[in-house]
Amino acid sequence: MADTYNIGIAGLGTVGVGVIDILNRHGDLLAKRAGRPVAVRAVSARDRHRDRGVDISGYDWCDDPVALARRDDLDLIVELIGGSDGPALALAQACLEGGRAFVTANKALMAYHGADLAVLADRMDAPLAYEAAVAGGIPVIKALKEGLAGNEISHISGILNGTCNYILTKMEEDRRDFGDVLAEAQQLGYAEADPTFDIDGHDSAHKAVILAMLAFHAVPAVDTAPVVGIRALDTVDIDYARELGYKIKLLGTARRTEDGIEVCVHPAMVPLDHALAGVRDATNAVMIQGDAVGETVYIGPGAGRGPTASAVVGDIIDIVRGHTSPALGRAAHDLPAMVPLDDAQRFANFYIRLRVNDAVGVVAEVAQLLSDADVSIDGLLQRGRAAKGGVYLVITTHATTEARAADVVAALDKLDNILEPPALLRIEA
Ligand code: HSE
Repeated sequence: MADTYNIGIAGLGTVGVGVIDILNRHGDLLAKRAGRPVAVRAVSARDRHRDRGVDISGYDWCDDPVALARRDDLDLIVELIGGSDGPALALAQACLEGGRAFVTANKALMAYHGADLAVLADRMDAPLAYEAAVAGGIPVIKALKEGLAGNEISHISGILNGTCNYILTKMEEDRRDFGDVLAEAQQLGYAEADPTFDIDGHDSAHKAVILAMLAFHAVPAVDTAPVVGIRALDTVDIDYARELGYKIKLLGTARRTEDGIEVCVHPAMVPLDHALAGVRDATNAVMIQGDAVGETVYIGPGAGRGPTASAVVGDIIDIVRGHTSPALGRAAHDLPAMVPLDDAQRFANFYIRLRVNDAVGVVAEVAQLLSDADVSIDGLLQRGRAAKGGVYLVITTHATTEARAADVVAALDKLDNILEPPALLRIEA
């Protein structure tokens, strides 16, 4: 068997320890699969002495993660530090500039700098792999780059954040509070160090951007993608969703339309017979529509130590075998910038939920306002009294633009008979 393939790991949090654990437990198996033994030789992390539950005494220690890229004895570096810039970016650049293989689980890094890093990787002929950056243990990057390479992709929609899906599932099934379930998701190792990235939709947006780059070979500007998280969701809307035959899911979407490419994140009402509706807890799922294959769906654990480490080790083994493909599925040097659609070009059906005074003419007033805005009502529901006072009025619309829906909601909010800001959700077809 060939010489040992030596790797360095920067970042020894949940995922780093998971990678070491897999390499230790499956050393013989992985050596057979890779064609040579794979061993950790050096590591870098913030605190050398923290008890991580794995023995790291046999590895060289580097205080500075970027120093790993300067070591000639490493064949590949795994970056598990996180963050779009700072040491993670410096390490990626140093590693690839040195022509060395780079594996990362860092979605923010890939969303903001993936296109540039891919150009660098192409130029230096250095493998760049990031399967763990999207949907944890589900090999969806590989599916897009390899298995679906014969397709023109029209639409990707996914449950891309395990923390949010966990929270939504528990809020719906156990009728628990948002904050209580979030704390549990953090304990389980699903949530980011700063969980606002999860619940405000940015983590999903990073992943949707990466999928869009791969599928459409253009580079979205991360900060122009419309992103709505789950923080403002009211359990009342979860209850109405159930009553109307939907689940509320936080979806990351990348879609080719006649006007361009839409990349966005929003909580959506998903019909119960939709492939993504039954996806529970921290599970992720990605639906990809290709012109030749039709609809394919990939489901699995999207967060946590084992699943994320599984994807990292899969990338390592691929690279040791010499099985690498261009980081973005094609040469990256001439990828165009993606022009974001504006809200007048983004269409959907909508759910609008109002809490209104129970008074003569309120429904007529609301209906008139929608009519004036040229928004067509598909369904209307008013039932019982709201515990907070007034009554809930639920409207579903036919397809209209985001711009019109937002204008209507802003106008509704100004009516005297509206008792709290309206809720607005997209309805997934
Ligand atoms: N915080 C992420 C999630 C981890 O909850 O899905 C995986 O990216």
